[in-house]
Amino acid sequence: MKTRLFNPGPTNVSEDVRDAIKTHDICHREKEFFEVLSRVNKNIIMVLNGEGTHSAVLFVSSGTGCNEAICASIHGKVLVINNGKYSDRICDILEAYKIPVNLLSVPPLEPIDLSLVEKALEEDKDITHIYLIHHETTTGVLAPLRKIGELAKNYGKLLCVDTVSGLGGHEFDLKKDNIAFCAVSANKCLESFPGVSFVLGRTDEIKKLEGKSRSFYFDIYAQWKKEQGGETPFTPAVQLIFALDRALQEFVEEGSERRIERYQGLAKQMRKGLKELGFELILLPDEMQSNILTAIKMPEKMDYWEVHDKLKERGITIYSGKGVLDQRRFRVATLGHISDKDVDWFLQNLREVMEEVGLLEKK
Ligand SMILES: Cc1ncc(COP(=O)(O)O)c(C=O)c1O
Repeated sequence: MKTRLFNPGPTNVSEDVRDAIKTHDICHREKEFFEVLSRVNKNIIMVLNGEGTHSAVLFVSSGTGCNEAICASIHGKVLVINNGKYSDRICDILEAYKIPVNLLSVPPLEPIDLSLVEKALEEDKDITHIYLIHHETTTGVLAPLRKIGELAKNYGKLLCVDTVSGLGGHEFDLKKDNIAFCAVSANKCLESFPGVSFVLGRTDEIKKLEGKSRSFYFDIYAQWKKEQGGETPFTPAVQLIFALDRALQEFVEEGSERRIERYQGLAKQMRKGLKELGFELILLPDEMQSNILTAIKMPEKMDYWEVHDKLKERGITIYSGKGVLDQRRFRVATLGHISDKDVDWFLQNLREVMEEVGLLEKK
């Protein structure tokens, strides 16, 4: 049966990525594994314009592990720009490590007011780092990354970014955005499987972290140092790294700009189709609008789980609203290895399900 995920990650992968997992049994201490890991690290940095300035450090974890690796290495005070569930989680991690925080709370569906960011930086001289969620996945709100990167540069602060769902689907440039550290996972817009994630960081800043991490496993410097020397400190997820290698080759071939354009096209097609089916969408101003996620108000008579389950029987996964997008919202994501034909197929199935449950008159 054809299956497609329309949830915001884990996502659909290409058949080549799926096949890449079926490599022969291989030990991670072998040169041939290390060549793959090196290519993975090199390609992610190249495609995000970090050559010569940034390094990739790969961890066997989900995206949260990489946010934790970044937090555990911070000695200073962090300005957290908080506009949703994932920045709440950053605060929780910082609290677990007893790292001081200056919290800038932003209402979830509103723009980040840069003058307030600047004010916090002016007033609190103890701030050393800024933590930002690039794309808040619960709401689909995109942050003004480049502008915050400029502020970080002007005020001499280190910008740490959770771009777990942003990177790949939205503009992101390690140099131009003044990224000091960021957390990236394989299973969203990088179009690979869950289980491996990266910290991408400025090499000069990584070098300063020797002996600084409060975490044993998520020690950015220790992991980087080993990877530089052709090793990994622990047993990595070998097969997942083979799959990621293939996915990153596809990313390099497609190019960052074209991937963004593809995702924008899919989101546009999805939104048009949903409106034609009579759905009311929660749209945001262009500069805040997600390229991968569409939040939808549920029609009064709609039973989310009934629609979800009927779509699931047809091979389609959708996602409920969370946090501010409560039970009367649901979300569809258009990311991963999908095409306009998949979106048409989704819309056709949704129409049929809506007819089945009496939300639409039969054509
Ligand atoms: C913006 C953002 N940050 C962090 C995470 C957590 O990632 P993981 O579940 O891979 O740990 C997610 C997951 O969806 C996310 O969307």
